[in-house]
Amino acid sequence: MMLRFLTLFALIFCISVTESHKIKSARHDVRNFPEGFLFGTATASYQVEGAWDVDGKAPNIWDHMTHNDPCLIKDCSNGDIADNSYYLYKRDVEMMRELGIKFYRFSLSWPRILPTSFPDEINEAGVQYYNNLIDELLKYNIEPMITLYHWDLPQKLQELGGWTNPFIVDWFGDYARIAYRLFGDRVKYWMTINEPYQVCYQGYGDVTKAPRLNMKGIAEYMCGKNLLMAHARAYHIYDDEFRSSQNGVVFIAYSAQWYEPESENEIQAAEECNQFMWAFYVHPIFSETGDYPPIVKERVAAKSAEQGFARSRLIEFTPEEVDYVRDTADIFGLNHYSTNFVYRNDSVNGYYESPSFYDDMGVIMYQTDEYKIGESDFTKSIPWGFYKLLTKIREDYNNPTVFICENGFATHGGLNDDDRVQNMRTYLSAMLDAIEEGSDVRAYAFWSLMDNFEWMQGYIERFGLYEVDYEDPERTRTPRKSAFVYKEIVKTHSLDFHYEPTDTVMTIDEL
Ligand SMILES: *[C@@H]1O[C@H](CO)[C@@H](O)[C@H](O)[C@H]1NC(C)=O
Repeated sequence: MMLRFLTLFALIFCISVTESHKIKSARHDVRNFPEGFLFGTATASYQVEGAWDVDGKAPNIWDHMTHNDPCLIKDCSNGDIADNSYYLYKRDVEMMRELGIKFYRFSLSWPRILPTSFPDEINEAGVQYYNNLIDELLKYNIEPMITLYHWDLPQKLQELGGWTNPFIVDWFGDYARIAYRLFGDRVKYWMTINEPYQVCYQGYGDVTKAPRLNMKGIAEYMCGKNLLMAHARAYHIYDDEFRSSQNGVVFIAYSAQWYEPESENEIQAAEECNQFMWAFYVHPIFSETGDYPPIVKERVAAKSAEQGFARSRLIEFTPEEVDYVRDTADIFGLNHYSTNFVYRNDSVNGYYESPSFYDDMGVIMYQTDEYKIGESDFTKSIPWGFYKLLTKIREDYNNPTVFICENGFATHGGLNDDDRVQNMRTYLSAMLDAIEEGSDVRAYAFWSLMDNFEWMQGYIERFGLYEVDYEDPERTRTPRKSAFVYKEIVKTHSLDFHYEPTDTVMTIDEL
């Protein structure tokens, strides 16, 4: 999510740039999804599982951080219990059956499966938990889609440098191999890593995710290269050792927001912003040439030289590594939430700490309250940015097959979540606009099935179709209005802006 909310800038520009898209997305009242389009929901291990030290699980970097410095989290909370899904997974699957969804995206906890971080010791109880969850899903024809790494790195590996240590390429590969071996007979969709930018920039360059290394302009680039190499390792291992027998797909879940020029003069600045903020991780895998985007290499090298570094702070790929990373994703996994406006002028000089990733990028980004719906600052609702992003992905990377791995909206709780409903409908409609123009989007995972531990925001920002009662030891889950609306979308395979749910109790439709 955005770091700066500069609300004072002229809105006139934004309105003129956006008007045409607003009209476009509202043009049909009922719109159909393509045949075979898949609907699902998503969660992540640390955000829902709880059982943080149960049955042999070792600590991860979030256990470590929240226990050592609890009030780094907005409500001083942690994921020790979270939604208690380690025990309540059958209820979770029951909710998916209520919704009628076809797949569930969840992540594995590395230190729950490998308590030493390495493959010398496999924790049977942890493996049993995931076997139970997978089997429960399959029993009801819900496709399991696994993320190998959704931010809960084993703390031991962090003490060895975590994603800044190049050996993590081996460690992650070893872990991926174990996961394919254990679950790949039943699991056919594998996402290696969730949101590279958040892992590397927020965790290593900044202080907004664990491990809060705050080594700006240095550590995020070390992490970036190792993460891409680790992803590629996991892909090649699947290709070489498992694909022929398991017939699945392997990909990566990018976080990409849309960066919109504030005015026509800012088109170049916005383009560079999109290159730095997400194409940084996409270009090495999806472009024909591979490697980082040229503009990123040029700018970081030039800045580094100016600043007196002996070489570029961007750790470059060797030609062999460029080859190793290129074309290592079977699907384009996309997490998308919002849009920011971009400009560049003299005020950018000295605006950011130097050196830093943002200083290297050299643009200023902001969001305005014009797009705020509901009470949360977290997810400004700008659906036409989703359309523009999908269009750019189609045009720049030869129309890859896209799975939306996350899209959703934060509230501060309550069952009557009309803002979430509006956001869901308008974003799905913008996605349909892109599909109608040729984008090959085939799946959509709503974030999230239920409220969960929202990282630095604790339990304040709520993303669930189901509300979770954290006062209740049973962690009771109750469907919100958005759950009934999503259910209707899934059931009718269409989007009806006028549908008003009449049910207040969920039932399971027989298939
Ligand atoms: C830079 O652009 C912003 C937004 O358009 C404007 O508010 C600001 O005054 C400009 N600063 C300079 C130094 O030109």
